[in-house]
Amino acid sequence: MEGALPVAANAPQQNAHGLYTEKLSGTSFTAPRGENQQSWLYRILPSASHQNFTAVPAGSSSSLDTPTPNFQSKFHVIPNQLRWDPFDLDPEVSWIHSMHLIAGAGDPTMKSGLGIFVYAAGKSMPEKTAFYSADGDYLIVPQHGALDIQTELGRLLVRPNEICVIPRGIRYRITLHNDEPVRGFILELYEGHFHLPELGPIGSNGLANARDFQAPVAYFEQDYENTEHTLYGKFGGVLFSASQAHSPFDVVAWHGLYYPYKYDLGRFNTIGSISYDHPDPSIFTVLTAPSYAHGPGTAVADFVIFPPRWLVAEKTFRPPWYHRNTMSEFMSLISGSYDAKAGGKGGFQPAGASLHNTMSGHGPDMQTFEKASTAELQPARVGEGSMAFMFESCLMLGVTEWGLHTCEKVQEGYNRESWEPLKVHFKRPAAEMTVLSAEEKRGYENGTAKDMSSLEDVG
Ligand SMILES: [Fe+2]
Repeated sequence: MEGALPVAANAPQQNAHGLYTEKLSGTSFTAPRGENQQSWLYRILPSASHQNFTAVPAGSSSSLDTPTPNFQSKFHVIPNQLRWDPFDLDPEVSWIHSMHLIAGAGDPTMKSGLGIFVYAAGKSMPEKTAFYSADGDYLIVPQHGALDIQTELGRLLVRPNEICVIPRGIRYRITLHNDEPVRGFILELYEGHFHLPELGPIGSNGLANARDFQAPVAYFEQDYENTEHTLYGKFGGVLFSASQAHSPFDVVAWHGLYYPYKYDLGRFNTIGSISYDHPDPSIFTVLTAPSYAHGPGTAVADFVIFPPRWLVAEKTFRPPWYHRNTMSEFMSLISGSYDAKAGGKGGFQPAGASLHNTMSGHGPDMQTFEKASTAELQPARVGEGSMAFMFESCLMLGVTEWGLHTCEKVQEGYNRESWEPLKVHFKRPAAEMTVLSAEEKRGYENGTAKDMSSLEDVG
């Protein structure tokens, strides 16, 4: 609205059009300039104008399916590699009750760590309702159906193959675009905010470019009737609700650096090896949330994608190498198929997921290994029509009871089918047999050597 935003001041004695000034801070006031995120909102009534919050009783049909305090004790912290079949759509619920916490670490009350949710909703949020999380920033990755999100700061339409970030505290209402059911994943970041990764020697462009991120413009509704609205807040993992006699979506103008935004993953500029070797997957980082506790270059959460791209590396095993990482990796697939997972019952499917925790070994399954080790290395297009993504964290991720049992999606045979079938290809060169140590010789002679195949090779 023309003139609603004050010029050269943030808090005039009287705003144009009788608006209230409200500040929304996403960092401490004194955060360094480059990280400081604050916004000024000019609205019909301040957000403070509501009745008291009351907790929605735990275990009721309308409570949140998240562990309540003590947060950490609710997780199964286990080293097994896990893979889930696709999570079901749920026609019965709207956004707030569509979220199931699968895995996480830390504690929102301590502003540390993260939570990973799957959401599946078949209904729009009821009219005159709004939701916010005081616990963290929501990075939302739609897999099915488009989200029509009305936020305090404006509207965002977010479709599969796009992502959005709704920062801590910002209120919103989600309706289903064209009434189509929705499903996807959420990374809730309890500490800090997402940033674009540094580009180092890549230079000034590449990966996700800043110019491709989109933020909404102010969009408000005027409630002439003072109708009752219900505001839901997630606070310390618990759902609260409060009534207010005005719309929460009454911000007529805003400016600042704390706002929701979206990004089309199709705009990601992939970079890869044009000579040899499979590079670290950090080259596919879209957004990163640095950990200040764990040192430079370490992330509480990285959002990483594997878009369609060319593989041209020479004399190289092109899929990911086998690895154990200090980082935990939660992966899912928005569409298509992923190049390191060809086999296994159930497989790695869109809307399914996998978790490879801190130091849990993984890599290509047996079928992929056998194929990739003998494939003719022509330039190859991979991932056509597909988009895989990863939530990666420096923290050890625990799995909730819902994620491990209640959802009934865990593939019990994941490890057995993926890596136990790997064959031993090792053959000890014949020449080496002449320099066996005395102990090794004894092993072969009395039959206690682990690998007797080498003995057969040399007769
Ligand atoms: Fe991995």
